[in-house]
Amino acid sequence: MNQEAIVTIEVSLGERSYAVVVGRGLFEYVDQYISSRYEKVAVITQEEIPWSLQLSVDSEVFTVPKDERAKSLRVVDEVSSKLALFGLKRNHLIVALGGGVVTDLGGFVASTYYRGTDYINVATTLLGMVDAAVGGKTAVNLRQGKNLVGSFWQPKAVFCDLNTLETLPENQKRSGLGEMAKYSFISHDTLEGMSLLEQVARCVEIKAEYVASDEREGGRRALLNYGHTLGHAVEAQGFERSLGEQLTHGEAVAVGIYFAGKLAFKMGRIDEARLDEHRKVLHSYGLNHRLPSWADKDSLLEYMKRDKKSMGTLTFVLDGRDGLEVVRDVEESMVKDVIHEL
Ligand code: GLY
Repeated sequence: MNQEAIVTIEVSLGERSYAVVVGRGLFEYVDQYISSRYEKVAVITQEEIPWSLQLSVDSEVFTVPKDERAKSLRVVDEVSSKLALFGLKRNHLIVALGGGVVTDLGGFVASTYYRGTDYINVATTLLGMVDAAVGGKTAVNLRQGKNLVGSFWQPKAVFCDLNTLETLPENQKRSGLGEMAKYSFISHDTLEGMSLLEQVARCVEIKAEYVASDEREGGRRALLNYGHTLGHAVEAQGFERSLGEQLTHGEAVAVGIYFAGKLAFKMGRIDEARLDEHRKVLHSYGLNHRLPSWADKDSLLEYMKRDKKSMGTLTFVLDGRDGLEVVRDVEESMVKDVIHEL
């Protein structure tokens, strides 16, 4: 293993602190980490993930269906039952090996299995590395919306092996880039000119700092949801349609970021130059800022009203002269106008 190429970032949460390890060729290290701490391990992974772990302890692999369908209470029930049959106990370990879907689901199973079991995330997608695997938000979806049932349950460690990104499909890469673009607006940093390792590590560092200061999203952690209110709505609509038309999470967030920029502009919070910067940043990541032609503009509004952050009113993370902030009670007619202009 090339020690030079490994960066470790701590998520500082007192006794629940943990390391996020970013580098190449980390799987051997994952086995060392596990075998020095646990006797029995359940690996939760997903169809079509071309990676597996060679573990030197008693372990079994549980494979869940592909795409967002795995994030359901039915799958939680199925996987938990299989863990019980396998004989997994509270002092054993769950490993979530995969992208955001697997780490969200695996983390949720871990948080409820035996009222809370240790887990680690081994992220194999860019989105997982820069966002989903870090920070302890776990969830599954309901028909009524994404991530409506979940928990805050921190992993014991997160491993981001950049070699796994070499097999990542293009749309999954763009999904990660959507979240990376988000960090440019949160931190006013640019990742340009950095190596992939530096870029991933920088995003993790920004996220770790927000999580450490506001673990349960009482305040500033909500800013990490920039672009997500419309993003989730578009993503959910795509999911209800045929798979060919679906947008990945990060691609939908990219549209949501531009929407949030336009809304902030319409509300007089930012000027035209800053709105233009939104478009330019998204394009620099190769992301589309427009709504897909199949989007049903009217039902997007209804979906956004049900967003977890909204508490009954239309709530968005919006840019302004002093940076991003959560803005409540945004006028419905204004939101409608901006959706129709997208
Ligand atoms: N993905 C946003 C968060 O973890 O807070």
